[in-house]
Amino acid sequence: MASNKNLLMLPGDGVGPEVMHEVKRLIDWMARRRHVSFNISEDLVGGAAIDARGTPISKDTVAAAKAADAVLFGSVGGPQWDRLGFDMRPEISILTLRRELGLFANLRPAIVLEPLVSASTLKPDVVRGLDLMIVREATGGIYFGEPRGIETLPDGQQRGFNTESYTTHEIERVARVAFDLARKRQNRVCSVEKANVMESGLLWRQVVTALREREYPDVGLSHMYADNCAMQLVRNPRQFDVIVTGNLFGDLLSDLASMLTGSLGMLPSATLGAVDASGRRHALYEPIHGSAPDIAGKGLANPLAQILSFAMLLRFSFDMNEDATMIERACTNVLASGLRTADVMAAGCAKVGTQVMGEAVIREMEKLAT
Ligand code: IPM
Ligand code: MG
Repeated sequence: MASNKNLLMLPGDGVGPEVMHEVKRLIDWMARRRHVSFNISEDLVGGAAIDARGTPISKDTVAAAKAADAVLFGSVGGPQWDRLGFDMRPEISILTLRRELGLFANLRPAIVLEPLVSASTLKPDVVRGLDLMIVREATGGIYFGEPRGIETLPDGQQRGFNTESYTTHEIERVARVAFDLARKRQNRVCSVEKANVMESGLLWRQVVTALREREYPDVGLSHMYADNCAMQLVRNPRQFDVIVTGNLFGDLLSDLASMLTGSLGMLPSATLGAVDASGRRHALYEPIHGSAPDIAGKGLANPLAQILSFAMLLRFSFDMNEDATMIERACTNVLASGLRTADVMAAGCAKVGTQVMGEAVIREMEKLAT
């Protein structure tokens, strides 16, 4: 059956291909049982692309990502590529995709599922029911700001430097994503910067405040310095609904928030571009976890974050909310049934590997579908 849903899969390195394999099996199941088909193509990124083509991401791959309706990304990197020059690192592939596709809004949910409440290092009473969304700006700030570099000073010392910069437009468009999401949730946005020490943070605060007064007077807005936010996330994470912040603070705070849930192996993410005149938007979905080289190839990785990233893809890129919800429920049910991969293993549960976990999700889908 020909499909109008063009999906590019970029499994990458380490556990990426293993967890992506479980998504492929889920897609096969959907074709059989839900009569949904995708036009899938696959390509190399990261270390795999470096080995095969001498570049972390080729121009053709970037073009294929631009042409696709959605990109499902695995993970990149590994010790064998750590010695390469800065421009040749596997991580360049994801940064290139964000920049070339204009993927400025990185959505990173931190949700504590009831079966995993004791997997968190925080007390169950602090994290139970947590449902937080971090909206991280992903194409600006200090990651991309100019000037940048390492220079040699007249006295022979070296100086490394980067630039944090944000324009009104960059701040407004990511804040809009946060306000729009909040309206579908608890209607509260907390904007995070360091307006006390950085001009870029001061402008951030002013622009977000003005935007809210102009376009989102119905949405609650608070402001927080990034260091305080890190502390508050650990002290009382449920005070937050949607957090919107810049690239670097979002990188740090989303790692912190992910650990509130007990396992990096559980969390998906979406990175979205602007909606164009035809209603289309570039979008990339990836698990928060990395390539986990220590367990790669052993069939131990938790495939749920990759599967849940696919659920986000269905929701945000194809408006397939019913299927997305079904996948999310299936994952929760599997955990509630006591199956666990090693990363979320708990007393009294059964330890399983990647494939058994993937199969269990499909079995739950089967039950939910009948
Ligand atoms: C992330 C990662 C990336 C980042 C790396 C791999 C470039 O840490 O997506 O959070 O820093 O943005
Ligand atoms: Mg990170």
